[in-house]
Amino acid sequence: MTTVSVRQCPGGPLLVRGATQVETEDGELVPVARPVVALCQCGRSGRMPWCDSSHKFGSDGITRRRQD
Ligand code: FES
Repeated sequence: MTTVSVRQCPGGPLLVRGATQVETEDGELVPVARPVVALCQCGRSGRMPWCDSSHKFGSDGITRRRQD
């Protein structure tokens, strides 16, 4: 049995460990080859469904500071 875990990064992506595929909102099944993948939650990624770090920039293009 495969275990899949998901970790939500505040202000960032979902880190998914152990997935073999991801289903996009269009229903496309995208194979996963890496042990951990980052899924975009902010909607700004140019590589959906993957996070491309665009979440670090506000709508005005200014880098956001991490809130720890
Ligand atoms: S969460 Fe990283 S680009 Fe959307």
